[in-house]
Amino acid sequence: MEAKLKIGILGTGIVGQTLGQKLVKLGHSVLLGTRNPSKLDEPKGRGPSARTLSDWLAEVGAEARISTFREAANHGEIVINALNGGASLDVLQSVGETYLNGKTLIDTSNPIDISGGFPFTLFVKDTDSLGEILQREFPNLRVVKTLNTLTAALMVDPQRVGNGDHTVFLSGNDAKAKTQVLELLREIGWHDILDLGDISTARGTEMMLSIGHAVMHALNPAEIAFKVVRNKRP
Ligand SMILES: NC(=O)c1ccc[n+]([C@@H]2O[C@H](COP(=O)([O-])OP(=O)(O)OC[C@H]3O[C@@H](n4cnc5c(N)ncnc54)[C@H](OP(=O)(O)O)[C@@H]3O)[C@@H](O)[C@H]2O)c1
Repeated sequence: MEAKLKIGILGTGIVGQTLGQKLVKLGHSVLLGTRNPSKLDEPKGRGPSARTLSDWLAEVGAEARISTFREAANHGEIVINALNGGASLDVLQSVGETYLNGKTLIDTSNPIDISGGFPFTLFVKDTDSLGEILQREFPNLRVVKTLNTLTAALMVDPQRVGNGDHTVFLSGNDAKAKTQVLELLREIGWHDILDLGDISTARGTEMMLSIGHAVMHALNPAEIAFKVVRNKRP
């Protein structure tokens, strides 16, 4: 059977691996990009979910491949940014606009700065966001910030919490790109998808990280998600 969409994922941490596995399961062709594609035997990610890329490939199957960041971007009709926030701009610059222009970038990254320890801070906030920084740098890339408020496990399996009755947000300037991402989110199993508006609204969802971590810490151990409860107007 021919793959439905070609998707390039920049990043091989828990987010890249988890999204990649789910998207292959849904019938898409996935290429994961990493700094050193020949080093497949080092564990990626943290904690019990960390696994090597060899193990990932063996588990995920034939519709998945691993190569450089540029190859991943080149492969993707849709590109996913699953990079460390601090590395995102540098990696996209190293990929180059030729490989990015006109494409939709699903941006799951957060501008987390752990250089001062925990609780972490954000290296951009209030008047700007990482989503906007990437959009400004690549005006012809269609950046859609989404999924960044969720754990990797919840991104691909909303049912894990509250029977899936919680909210995922979208921020982006390009209506067609947002529709494309919305369709992919529905395919993954999302129902409550809230379009917040243009990419500047990514400030809000990136800053949700602080409250998200505070809530998770307070309820520890717990998996949590945010639900926007709307007032029903007559
Ligand atoms: N973990 C979560 O549950 C979660 C939830 C929501 C949002 N996010 C956001 O999603 C993104 C990915 O998170 P993650 O936990 O999967 O992984 P991560 O550890 O934040 O980042 C992993 C990726 O970043 C790349 N990277 C790191 N430093 C780099 C550098 N100096 N130069 C080039 N590339 C570099 C790594 O490249 P290599 O492949 O070469 O190692 C790896 O592919 C982050 O922005 C995070 O804030 C994470």
